[in-house]
Amino acid sequence: MKYFFLAYLAVALLVVGVLGFRGDKFSQAPLEVFPDMDSQDKLKGQKPSGFFADGVGSRKPVMGTVPRGADSGVLPIEFGAGRTGYYFTGALGDKFGNGMPEELKLESTEDSRALLTRGREMYDVNCAICHGESGNGKGVINQFEGAMKGNIANLLTDPFKQVAAPDGYIYEVISNGKGLMGGYKHNLPVRDRWAIVAYLRALQASAK
Ligand code: HEC
Repeated sequence: MKYFFLAYLAVALLVVGVLGFRGDKFSQAPLEVFPDMDSQDKLKGQKPSGFFADGVGSRKPVMGTVPRGADSGVLPIEFGAGRTGYYFTGALGDKFGNGMPEELKLESTEDSRALLTRGREMYDVNCAICHGESGNGKGVINQFEGAMKGNIANLLTDPFKQVAAPDGYIYEVISNGKGLMGGYKHNLPVRDRWAIVAYLRALQASAK
């Protein structure tokens, strides 16, 4: 009899222990002996996330992202492939135009300053190696033997100032290159090319 009660108690405990609290909610996290990667830092589609300042989990693609499998015909508009108009070509009719295109939306001094800052960044990254940080054509490439040495345009001289070389022309040279210089239309979005034009004018104005 004694053993029957002990066994009965053991079975009762087991049944309650295994089935009794199924489906109940607990306020504390369960004791996980084997976590099995149950909790991970990850983003779920369409779900909010505390990680980003705006609380949105789904992010937009980075500016200038090219869709996988895109051929040259469907490059994003930022690179201007196949587009017409001053903003994309630098040309007004059959001449190169002067002035910043309205698509840049330069409405305040702040806007212009931001464009120049961007222009400086992009110039220093892409152009300074050859044309020099000041634009004088004496970038580090001149220290090496080769076709470039001594043949890089000094952009601070008259032929490249606004009268002889309009803004649209400089934009065109950046886009498609000239002579020994390669073009940047596949590397630099349209807006960045104009930013460089603006920065180049600033370099010229400050070179006295
Ligand atoms: C790899 C070196 C190199 C880089 C990088 C380079 N250039 Fe040039 N650039 C040259 C050379 C060399 C010339 C002279 C071209 C010629 O007449 O053969 C030139 C010429 C020019 C000209 C004058 C075109 C003319 O009418 O003769 C401009 C304007 C110019 N570059 C702007 C830029 C800008 C802006 C960048 C950055 C986006 C840049 N370059 C990057 C090498 C370079």
